[in-house]
Amino acid sequence: MLIQQREIPQVSNDMMNMLHEDEVEIVNKFHDAVLARDIDKIDEIFEELIADVEVHFATEEAMMETADYEFTIVHKGDHDTMRKKLKDLHERWKILKGPKEVKGFLEKDFKSWFKLHISKWDSETAPNVA
Ligand SMILES: [Fe+2]
Ligand SMILES: [Fe+2]
Repeated sequence: MLIQQREIPQVSNDMMNMLHEDEVEIVNKFHDAVLARDIDKIDEIFEELIADVEVHFATEEAMMETADYEFTIVHKGDHDTMRKKLKDLHERWKILKGPKEVKGFLEKDFKSWFKLHISKWDSETAPNVA
């Protein structure tokens, strides 16, 4: 398992907590497929993960815009960095089909980014968009 649900800090917004919980489930399923080097399954869940991340980020961004939250641009900027990393990795995956690179990304990059983003940006944003 890549990320335990209890490792993820709760924020003061139920919608955001729900989005995070869903994403942990999908990313763990994805990590399992990567460890198993199951190319077809990685293909399938990669698409699912990217779609889920988009729902997560776009929902938060819509909430911030509706609330006219003052740090919307900075928070969105951190989403955009991860959007780009995921997109670039997906493009490389489609050509190289290398589970090792995806494994390294999930374990060294995505996991720490996800926890840090939630404890910093989502925690700071949640009370302002409730
Ligand atoms: Fe979030
Ligand atoms: Fe966020």
